[in-house]
Parts: sequence; C-alpha cells; structure tokens
Amino acid sequence: MQNKISYEVERRRTFAIISHPDAGKTTLTEKLLLYGGAIRLAGSVKARKANKYATSDWMEIEKQRGISVTSSVLQFEYNNYCINILDTPGHQDFSEDTYRTLMAADSAVMLIDGAKGVEEQTIKLFHVCKMRGIPIFTFVNKMDRASKDPFELMEELENVLGIRSYPMNWPIGTDGDFKGVYNRKLSQIELFEGGNHGQTVVSSIKGSVDDKIFADLLGDHYHKKLCEDIELLDMAGDPFDKEKILKGELTPMFFGSAMTNFGVQPFLEEFLQLAPKPGIKMSSEGEVDPESDKFTGFVFKIQANMNPAHRDRIAFIRICSGRFTRGMTVYHVQQGKEVRLSQPQQFMAQERTIVEEAYAGDIIGVFDPGIFHIGDTLSEGNSNLRFEGIPIFPAEHFAKVTPVDTMKRKQFIKGINQLSEEGTIQVFKQIDIGFESIIVGVVGILQLEVLEYRLKHEYGVDLRIQKLPHRHARWIVSSDTEPRNLTLTSTTMIVHDQDERYVLLFENEWSIRWAEEKNPSLKLEDIAKRDL
Ligand code: G4P
Repeated sequence: MQNKISYEVERRRTFAIISHPDAGKTTLTEKLLLYGGAIRLAGSVKARKANKYATSDWMEIEKQRGISVTSSVLQFEYNNYCINILDTPGHQDFSEDTYRTLMAADSAVMLIDGAKGVEEQTIKLFHVCKMRGIPIFTFVNKMDRASKDPFELMEELENVLGIRSYPMNWPIGTDGDFKGVYNRKLSQIELFEGGNHGQTVVSSIKGSVDDKIFADLLGDHYHKKLCEDIELLDMAGDPFDKEKILKGELTPMFFGSAMTNFGVQPFLEEFLQLAPKPGIKMSSEGEVDPESDKFTGFVFKIQANMNPAHRDRIAFIRICSGRFTRGMTVYHVQQGKEVRLSQPQQFMAQERTIVEEAYAGDIIGVFDPGIFHIGDTLSEGNSNLRFEGIPIFPAEHFAKVTPVDTMKRKQFIKGINQLSEEGTIQVFKQIDIGFESIIVGVVGILQLEVLEYRLKHEYGVDLRIQKLPHRHARWIVSSDTEPRNLTLTSTTMIVHDQDERYVLLFENEWSIRWAEEKNPSLKLEDIAKRDL
C-alpha cells in the first residue's frame, strides 16, 4: 500500500490558473483537456460557458449551469501524470472562494494576455500565491495576435508584480504571424502547423537553430531577430534556478496561443516536469507527509444549494496525505467526532462521478449535512491534528445589513452566522455606536445578492442593505495607540471582526497611507490569519 500511495502522490500535479477575465483561461483549460485526451474536439467546454450576463440573473444561471458554476476541479491524465486543475471563478463569480481555492493548489499558472499584460485580477490572485510561496508559472497567451514585446512583458512582471522571470521558450513571429517557439533548454526551434483552427492537436517540426532549414523557413529577418534575442536573454537575463522557481521567487515563462494550440503542448510538458507534486504540509502536530498512510485533508470550500431541489451542500476537501476510500470514516477534528464521508464526488472533465479512492493532491466533494466549516481538518487516527486555518481575504465591498422586520432578528442572526461560516460573507460589528450594527464584507459584489436571496429563501428574512463607500479592510496587527485613539480620516470606520479583532475600513488607498503616516506604530495587514 505504501508503494501505491507514493506512486500516486509522485504523479499528481494540482494547480490553479490565475488570470484576468478574457485572458483565455477557459480556452487554455479546454486545450489542456484536449491534449490529455479527456475531450476529443475542442469547443465543448467553451460552448457550455455562460455568456456575459447581468448580476441579477445569477440565481437563474446557477440553476441552469448547475455543474459548470460549481465544477471546482477537473481531473485528467497526461503522460501518466494525474492532473487536477482547480477552477478559480472570475467575472461576476469572483468571490472569496476564488482566493480560497488557491489554498488547495500546489502551484499556479498565471495566464496573461500578451497584448494587455498584467491586469487587475491577476495582481490580486498573484498576491495570494506569493503569500503562500507556491511556484508560479507564466503563460503568455494570444501570441497569434499583436502583442507587447516579450522583453517589455518580462519588465512588467518585475515592475508590477515584483517577480523576475525566466523565459523557458521564446516566441517566433509577431503580430499575427506566430510560427513557433525557441526552446531554451534544448536550444531547439519548434514550428507549429495544423490544428484545424485549434480544434485538434497541432503538429510540429523541431530542430537546431543553426539548421539551414530553419533559416530558410523563418526567413532572414525572423532568424536574425531570434538569434539576437536569445543572445541578449542569455547574457542579461536571470539564470535558470529551480530552487527559486519552487519557492515562487522566479517565474518560468512560456509563450503560446490557447486558441490555435500553438505552444500549449511544450508548456504542458515542461510545466508537468517542473511543477511540484503535493508537498509536506504543516499542522499543529508538525509536518504531515503526503505519502504517509493515514488520511488527512482540509475543507477549503463549501458550496451550498448546488441542487435547489435538495438544498444540498457540498464540502470540498483537499487531501493532504494517505488514501481516501469511498464511505470511509474519519475524525472531524473541530467537531470532535467521527464522520462518514458520504457521496464523495470528483469532477472529471466536466462530469461528476463518484470517487472510489483518492490521494494527496486530489480534491473530493462530500455531502455536507451542515457539519463542515471552511478550514476544518479531517484525519484518520490523529484526533489532535489541525491544519493551518484558511485566511480571511480582503473584502472590497461593505454594507450595513438589517432585517426589514425587527421581529425576525433571531432568524437574521442565524442566517448571517451560517453564511459567514460557509465563507460567503465576512461579518464585522461597528463599535462605539450604542447598539449593535452588522456590517457585511464581500470580495465580489454578487455575494451581496446571494446573501439577500438566501436570507429570504432559507430564513424568511427580508434584508435592508445599505451599501457603504468603503473598499478596503485592514486588520490592526500592532499599535501603541488604543484603536479608538488613532488619528484617522473622518470616514475611516473602526470595527470588530468575528473574533473581536480590530479592523479598520477605509474608503480608499489614500486614507490607508494617511493612517499609517499619522500613526507610526500602526501595523496593518490585508489578509487575516486564523489560528491553528
Ligand atoms: P476567460 O476564460 O479567461 O475569460 O477567457 P476565454 O477562454 O473565454 O477567452 C476570452 C476570449 O479570448 C475568447 O474570445 C477567446 O476565443 C479568446 N482567446 C482565448 N485564447 C486566445 C488566443 O490564444 N488567441 C486569440 N486570438 N484569442 C484567444 P471571444 O470572442 O470572447 O469568444 P469566442 O467567440 O471566441 O468564443
């Protein structure tokens, strides 16, 4: 059994694709499935992707899309690797879940639109990956069109994200004339052809850069430019450093086009070799080895009402060690009791299937009768072992919420607590105003609609929601001054989070800087750690 567990862990790669909407995440995911043989013809996944829609349609869309909203992970095989791609919702679906998903990934693929460079949502997600210290691989997409100069993109990564890059390959042919890539490891040119407009895999011809055939194929201009670029990269660029890559300090960079499939396979193959297998994870009981024979895992996401007819909830568990088998009983550390993991599900290339066994790196969704919370630890055998809790990520929208009917306060509090435990909303309490006022913080504005909908339908409470102009929450990590005596702008609010920690709500970046300047001992943090 031990050998089997080691074998399964060794071949697993669990990652998330982080990007700004429209950079091509859906397209790339689909192409990875195509190369993995999980789908035969590209176009099927994208066709299911809902078109742009108004936020108010969300509930309907949730019902119609069913699985696609909630397909949290896709598993497929390639060259004997077992790949888990975690979905990081974007657009209107962008929420705290998007950040939390990154807690279950062992590495990230940062997808960038070659013409647009580093965009806002990518910056936010990058920040979380950086905090975790996981390796970040960059795929520059849409190279089939006009794009920024690759050197300029490398500079942008450094200036905007503070990360240096190592191009693993280099694009040949620009501005609608993308022909192939130069592989720096093998000093080899790879030119692509075919692919039937991206529907099927492309073929390629490979050979040495000095080969006369390539000079002829590329023409003098491209060949000369490529040789110059490579020389400059070798001389002035960072050296390849696997250790730095694995610590997330250097990002390997790839160029390609998810649409035409050019560059997808070279990326996938190199990525699978470089990306880490599931690693050792820290817990209250010390290091947990993924290859140990005892099952451990943690809940990183709870999806409520996947099926409106049943009001079911699914808890998504990232397995950290051992072997999971269908129907097994594990110890629920936070609840202090044994639980049976029923209806375990896995999501294979868009289909839900019952999972018989799973290993470290895998994600399973189990039926949740209301006993799981985000960050809960499950373990076989060790009743004290707790994994580090899932942090609270920066909310960007805040609102005061009250029940329309004051007689329904009890139901209101129950609903608010439930949604907070599920991680849909963050709850703050305004202090010093004589009565208790509840402020809700959300990462994506759509979550306020979810809150309103669910309180009405599940708790029978109509809400009064008063949106606030605040955009940033900062936890006070340390300060010589009592929070109430801090010098703050008149609009800054002092609130408590659910653990009675002091949090400041700011309207803009400027008031954060002002607070820091006027109170030199004040230390603020935008992501709050939870205790073990
Ligand atoms: P997302 O999930 O990151 O939001 O992006 P998605 O894959 O949906 O891609 C967004 C748009 O970018 C799509 O065009 C898609 O076809 C296009 N795209 C993706 N990869 C490439 C690429 O490598 N090259 C080029 N030129 N375009 C790419 P759309 O017009 O919004 O949709 P569609 O009508 O093509 O489906």
